[in-house]
Amino acid sequence: MSTSSSTAAERDFKREFIKILFVVFVILLICLSIFFVNHHENNKYIIETLEFNGSVEEGDALFKVNCVGCHGITARGLVGPDLHSITQRLNDKEIIKQVTGGLTPPMPSFEIDPVNMSNLLKYLHSLE
Ligand code: HEC
Repeated sequence: MSTSSSTAAERDFKREFIKILFVVFVILLICLSIFFVNHHENNKYIIETLEFNGSVEEGDALFKVNCVGCHGITARGLVGPDLHSITQRLNDKEIIKQVTGGLTPPMPSFEIDPVNMSNLLKYLHSLE
């Protein structure tokens, strides 16, 4: 009697364990697919941005509207760091990720279309 009830408990335990394992597996699968989708879109955005040959003037105007509050009117730094020679320290991909990613608060993530992102990049390249 006692052995049969213990095997029933064991069977219950196994069933629960398999259920939990399954749920964890599904969650993992969802996380992975979200990661790949995001990754793919991010790359597409970067590729598109790098296809444009931006304009320094347009980028300067964008910078004045969006960035000077933290990086200063001449990009010499305020709350955020000095951005002169930033293009020697970070490559274009890294700068795009910095601007659109929102990975380093308090700097917000910016939703910029590829044309304007390339303008901003061109402006940052002009700040040697
Ligand atoms: C709310 C303030 C704020 C605004 C607005 C802002 N930034 Fe920043 N930015 C920061 C801060 C703070 C950092 C430093 C983050 C860190 O790495 O800790 C930073 C870092 C950066 C870096 C990397 C600097 C380095 O030395 O690694 C770049 C490039 C940059 N910002 C560009 C921009 C551009 C372009 C804009 C406008 C589209 C912008 N930022 C708007 C605050 C801001």
